[in-house]
Amino acid sequence: MSETKKIAVISGDGIGPEVVAEAQKIIKVTEEVFGYSFTMEHALFGGIAIDEKGTPLPEETLQVCKSADAVLLGAVGGPKWDNNSKELRPETGLLGIRKELGLFSNLRPAVIFDCLKDASTLKPEVLEGTDLMVVRELTGGIYFGEKFRREGAGGEEAVDTCVYNVSEVERIVRQAFEIAGKRRKKLASVDKANVLETSRLWRETVNRIAPEYPDIELEHVLVDNCAMQLLRRPSSFDVIVTENMFGDILSDEAAMLTGSIGMLASASMGEGSYGLYEPVHGSAPDIAGQGLANPIATILSVALMYRLTFGYAEAADAIERAVAEVLDAGHRTSDIAADKSKALSTTEMGDLIAKAIRKS
Ligand code: NAI
Ligand code: MG
Repeated sequence: MSETKKIAVISGDGIGPEVVAEAQKIIKVTEEVFGYSFTMEHALFGGIAIDEKGTPLPEETLQVCKSADAVLLGAVGGPKWDNNSKELRPETGLLGIRKELGLFSNLRPAVIFDCLKDASTLKPEVLEGTDLMVVRELTGGIYFGEKFRREGAGGEEAVDTCVYNVSEVERIVRQAFEIAGKRRKKLASVDKANVLETSRLWRETVNRIAPEYPDIELEHVLVDNCAMQLLRRPSSFDVIVTENMFGDILSDEAAMLTGSIGMLASASMGEGSYGLYEPVHGSAPDIAGQGLANPIATILSVALMYRLTFGYAEAADAIERAVAEVLDAGHRTSDIAADKSKALSTTEMGDLIAKAIRKS
């Protein structure tokens, strides 16, 4: 029996609890199959926390997260809270939790499942073999720089400033090299070093750190070129690391290679192996409570958690293989089904993946 690890579970709103329940089912199966031991502590977050505690991120929830090894998050938000003031909006809790937990990078894998290649708008032969990860810096750059208006010679001017310091760049670049080392050992660092000073600092930093990782093949790609290459040769990328705004845009572009939002996992990481894992999608109020949600994004987030926080690569592989097997056998939830009348419910999909892991 391995050491007991602690997972904080914050299901949130809408389809959050439905997809998280399936992810927990998968965690329990891996305990049986691989002999792991987890405690899972639930805490309130988002709209439901506003209703019950008067704040989207109660102090108890933060404590549960801080005392855990990793956090599993569903999704938050919904029309019920859309007109609330900023402090009483579920999405404010998302920003708060990232900050309080010291999460400085967002990781988004984009993996093509062969049997779903046709769901993408790109040609199947272009997508073949695509398995990449975008590592986006989350705490710096133009989104957080000083912003102001002033009167200029040509009338009113608006100013957004982009600032990065060398330690912010170093920590994310090192993390990206480490992640590449656990994958296919290729890193693309994306910047705009031909025009931006922050990008020149970024590139210098990458080049200074690179010799510490001699087994990683490094390329520098300008962001505009990267946007093109993602559509032209997506399978040639392994890990892409970039600053906040470029990462915001490129991670959404990369996500669309795969076709369905119900399939996309993500991780937000801090120092060391601590991480928060969640599906890329939101709370989908339009389908909440109907058993229609695809749980695969959340289940694949568990695989990411096993790989990045716990180093349980064998179980991560087993989860990813089980998902691929179930899809290969033709099983679909309605978001990815060609024939909606044959679509599986959220729990049926979770059960099939659990069964495939037990068989593995
Ligand atoms: P959304 O991702 O919730 O839904 C977009 C569309 O995709 C909807 O038609 C939905 O039914 C579908 N969809 C999403 N996840 C699915 C799944 N697992 N299976 C099947 N279909 C799925 O984005 P939307 O509608 O813009 O936002 C809804 C709420 O979620 C808002 O309150 C928003 O603020 C919040 N949100 C929360 C996020 C988070 O918790 N990290 C991220 C994005 C949005
Ligand atoms: Mg975005």
